[in-house]
Amino acid sequence: MSDTPRRTDKPGKPYRRPKKDPVRILAFEALRAVDERDAYANLVLPPLLRKAREKGDFDGRDAALATELVYGTLRRQGTYDAVIAACVDRPLREVDPPVLDVLSLGVHQLLGTRIPTHAAVSSSVELARVVLGDGRAKFVNAVLRKVAQDDLDGWIAKVAPPYEDDPEDHLAVVHSHPRWVVSALWDSLGGGRAGIEELLAADNERPEVTLVARPGRATTEELLGTEAAVPGRWSPYAVRLTEGGEPGAIDAVRDGRAGVQDEGSQLVALALAGAPLDGPDEKWLDGCAGPGGKAALLAALAAERGAVLLAAEKQPHRAGLVAKALAGNPGPYQVIAADGTKPPWRPGSFDRVLMDVPCTGLGALRRRPEARWRRRPEDLDGFAPLQRGLLLSALDAVRVGGVVGYATCSPHLAETRAVVEDVLKQRPDAEILDARPLLPGVPDLGEGPDVQLWPHRHGTDAMYLALIRRTG
Ligand SMILES: C[S@@+](CC[C@H](N)C(=O)[O-])C[C@H]1O[C@@H](n2cnc3c(N)ncnc32)[C@H](O)[C@@H]1O
Repeated sequence: MSDTPRRTDKPGKPYRRPKKDPVRILAFEALRAVDERDAYANLVLPPLLRKAREKGDFDGRDAALATELVYGTLRRQGTYDAVIAACVDRPLREVDPPVLDVLSLGVHQLLGTRIPTHAAVSSSVELARVVLGDGRAKFVNAVLRKVAQDDLDGWIAKVAPPYEDDPEDHLAVVHSHPRWVVSALWDSLGGGRAGIEELLAADNERPEVTLVARPGRATTEELLGTEAAVPGRWSPYAVRLTEGGEPGAIDAVRDGRAGVQDEGSQLVALALAGAPLDGPDEKWLDGCAGPGGKAALLAALAAERGAVLLAAEKQPHRAGLVAKALAGNPGPYQVIAADGTKPPWRPGSFDRVLMDVPCTGLGALRRRPEARWRRRPEDLDGFAPLQRGLLLSALDAVRVGGVVGYATCSPHLAETRAVVEDVLKQRPDAEILDARPLLPGVPDLGEGPDVQLWPHRHGTDAMYLALIRRTG
C-alpha cells in the first residue's frame, strides 16, 4: 500500500499523519473481535497482548491500560450507549459498529478513567483517523466534545430515568446491565434498593484472582509466598492475589498442583465432599466436568479419602481440558467424554455426584464483561430441559443414601430453585438437605436449605448449590 497521504484536510492546512497509539489500536481490535466474531474478551486479549509484547510495542503498563480500556468499555457499555445516544442525532443502530467502538472507548476514557479530558479526546480522534479515516474522525471529535461537557454523575442524571418512575430501567442505565438481567437478579436477591445496587456495582468490579491449592498436591503456605498473596476468605484451600499478577508464572499452577479457581466454585466442591453419607464413600462422579476446575479439586479430595472420581464431559475437546486439569492427581480417576443425559454408567453406582450444569452464567458477569449483552431471556428456555434432565440423571446415578450436588454459576431462579423444585416433585425418592452447615463460617447464605453466593456479599461468583440425598 502506498504511504502517500491523501489530502482530505482543508486546502492550506498541512496534512499531519495520525499518531499511531498501539494501546488504543489494540483495544479497538479486541472490541471489534468481541463485536464481530462474538469472541470472548478474556480469550481475545491475551494473544493480542502477547503479540504486542513480542513486537516490542508494549510494556507491562501498556498491557494493563489496554486491558482496562477493553474490560471497562465492555462492562459499562449500557451506560455509555445511553450517553452516546444523547450526543448523536440518529438512533445508535444507524451508527456503524466500528465508529461506535471508537466512541465507546473514548467515552470510557472520559467518564470512567482518570485520563485527562484533552488526552482522552485527542487520543480517540487519532485512533479514529487511523482505523476509520479523517471524515469519521471529525464525527468522533464532535461527539466526544459533547460528552466531555459533563462527568459520569452528570450524564447519569440526564440519561437515566428517575428511580421513582422506573427502578429497573434506572438501575439498568446506572449500573450498565440489561433491564431483564437487573430484574432477574433482583428477583433472586430479594430486598430493597441498597442490596441490588451493591450487587450490580460488584458485577462491574474487576474480580481478584483466586488460586486453589489442590489438597495433597500443594499448600496454601506455598502459594502465600507469591507477591501480594493473602489467604482466601472462606475456603481453606484458597489464596487471593490482591494485585492480580500472572498465575501462569507460579510454579504450583504451572505444574497443575494448584489452579485458578473462584472461591465460590471451591465451596461447591467442598460442600459436596463434606455432605454426610450413610454407607461407603468410594465412588464419585462429576457429570459436567469441563473444563475441570471442580473436578480437579474433587479428585484431590477423593484421593485423600481413598475414593475414585469419574469426570464426564459431553464435549470431547473439553474432556481433554479435564484430563489436563486432573493430570498428576495423587489418587485414581477417570475422564470420559459422555452425555450426562444418556450416561454409560450403571444407575445407583456413585456415592457422591456433582452436576454443575450448563447455564446462562449470569453469576459470573465480573469475569465475562460481554456476556450480559449477549445473553437473551430466551436462552433460559434452551437450558431448562437440559438442566432438569441432568439433575434427574444425577439422581439416577447416585445410590440410595448418596448425595447429589446441583450447581449453577447463575443465580437466576429459573435455573436454580425452579429446577430443583420441579425435579423433586417428580422424585419422591429424593430429599433436599440443608447445605448451609457445609459452608462453615460463610454468612448470609439465604434461608436455605439451598445456598446462593453473591459477589457483593461473599466476593465470589454468584454460585448456587442444592444438595439432594437419594432416599429410596
Ligand atoms: C458449567 S460447565 C461445568 C464447569 C466445571 N464443573 C468446572 O468447574 O470446571 C458445564 C459443562 O457441562 C458440559 N455439558 C453440557 N451438556 C452436557 C451433557 N449433556 N452431559 C455432560 N456434560 C455436558 C458443557 O460442555 C460444560 O463443559
